[in-house]
Amino acid sequence: MSLTPGHDLGLLQGPLLIFGGAYGNLPATRALQSVAERRGIPPQNIICTGDMVAYCAEPEETVQLIRRWGIRALMGNCEQSLAMRAVDCGCGFEEGSACSALSVEWFRYADSRMSAESRSWMAQLPQTLYFAMAGRRFAVVHGGASQLNRFFFASTPTALKQAELALLGNEVDGLIAGHCGIPFGQQIAGKTWLNAGVIGMPANDGTRDGWYMLLEQEGEALQASWKRLSYPAEQARDAMLKVGLTGYAEALISGLWPSEDILPETEKMARGVALSVAPLVF
Ligand SMILES: [Fe+2]
Repeated sequence: MSLTPGHDLGLLQGPLLIFGGAYGNLPATRALQSVAERRGIPPQNIICTGDMVAYCAEPEETVQLIRRWGIRALMGNCEQSLAMRAVDCGCGFEEGSACSALSVEWFRYADSRMSAESRSWMAQLPQTLYFAMAGRRFAVVHGGASQLNRFFFASTPTALKQAELALLGNEVDGLIAGHCGIPFGQQIAGKTWLNAGVIGMPANDGTRDGWYMLLEQEGEALQASWKRLSYPAEQARDAMLKVGLTGYAEALISGLWPSEDILPETEKMARGVALSVAPLVF
């Protein structure tokens, strides 16, 4: 399914704060809001790449916080599924996989907690955002440019990423995505691919932290830098256990995903190794 027409935010002056995957993790989302306030980054300079609701215990509360905050938000596959009252999360997990089995638990829960008003809000979210910064034009998508729920990891072959960038046309210099859950940044044939990471689930690196990305102007250049988000993970875990969400609860503490079906070999090998993402200047 191709993406719906995008929404253009025009010219933005940095710094921008970009994140994805709040996943119904209210303590993590609150912590990120405090980071933005401390850094003095206003809501119009904050972009969420989607999946505000998934694994964790407070989906409706997280959506309400994001709406009150007034940041720019993109439709992820979870918003799409909840807005459409679909039968599953639309993550694109293979049938019969552990990810697919695990998603039944949290999707049913999230679906049962979501208000009609939040679903209506999700239904009108854009699937692509465009903005310009320091003479560069960016497209922000949830997974890929061809498909909302397509997984692109750091190790995904360059040719596949190049094909996605080509779909966006010559005028787009960089793509910013989420969905895969592990942040990275790469230069691909003169263009830029950035994944901002997610705040609501660790990066399968054996630490509790979530990740977000800052995009700042440095003279004529732009710099993307990735930051760890530390937050009270026990609080989010306890909230999950209290409502019977067991599948991903301990992952918030161990920093390890309960299933790696979606991961390429390279990312599987990095399980439990504390992630470090070097800043990208371009
Ligand atoms: Fe997603």
